[in-house]
Amino acid sequence: MAFSLHFLVIVSALIFSVLNPAQADTSSGSFIHSRAAYYPDSDDKGTEKGRCGYGSFGATMNNGYVADASDLYRDGVGCGACYQVRCTNSKDCSDEGVTIVITDQGSSDRTDFIMSKKAFRKMAQSTYSESSLLSQGTVDIEYRRVSCKYPNYNITVKIDESSDYPYYLAFVIWYQQGQNDITAVQLCETKNFNCKLLDRSYGSVFTTTSPPSGPLSLRMLLSGEDGDDKWVVPVNTIPENWKKGDIYDTGVQVAY
Ligand SMILES: *[C@@H]1O[C@H](CO)[C@@H](O)[C@H](O)[C@H]1NC(C)=O
Repeated sequence: MAFSLHFLVIVSALIFSVLNPAQADTSSGSFIHSRAAYYPDSDDKGTEKGRCGYGSFGATMNNGYVADASDLYRDGVGCGACYQVRCTNSKDCSDEGVTIVITDQGSSDRTDFIMSKKAFRKMAQSTYSESSLLSQGTVDIEYRRVSCKYPNYNITVKIDESSDYPYYLAFVIWYQQGQNDITAVQLCETKNFNCKLLDRSYGSVFTTTSPPSGPLSLRMLLSGEDGDDKWVVPVNTIPENWKKGDIYDTGVQVAY
């Protein structure tokens, strides 16, 4: 039984790859049609106030190529996800469009994204087209989920200012990488692997009252659209005397 099941998985994987040759590409999902608007008063930075909880880091994220998501916010699970977005009017729009990261929640008239002005302009194929897009305000787009890439950074944890050592721990996750969602976060005592599941307070902010003690090992559950779940356990721990405002490099990058 075990053998035949294994065999079946291999055969179906083969059939799948023959039928879907483009799946070898990392960002192979098909485009979904929608609409996007922009914040007229946004500058070339991202936002420090987004509902993903990135704070001041949000201003520098992805060089200001950021967006609010409406349904794609998904109660905060969508925070940090990257999308390739391109407008569809061939007169004004480039083929590649722009890759944005979700840092906030919001919607306009049937839009999936409200983009920073910088990101919105990036979809244009020329300076002339930029003004045309900007004057339209809301445009037809197509988008697909792509991998977030921060080659010079590991996934990083910033202890939130609302934390109160040792009773209450809140942190936000920076530089979420790859194409999967962080669907659960645990903290484990490194001595006895007593683990505690954290609450997603909002966006990318995770919290717990009475956190485990000692150096803490973080575990993140990464979930893909295909139902694939994988626990990632960073090499670095959060030190036992963690302090609010501190930033801890987890020591891992995630490529999937
Ligand atoms: C990422 O973590 C590794 C340890 O796992 C470390 O060697 C490397 O310097 C870190 N990279 C960055 C960019 O901080």
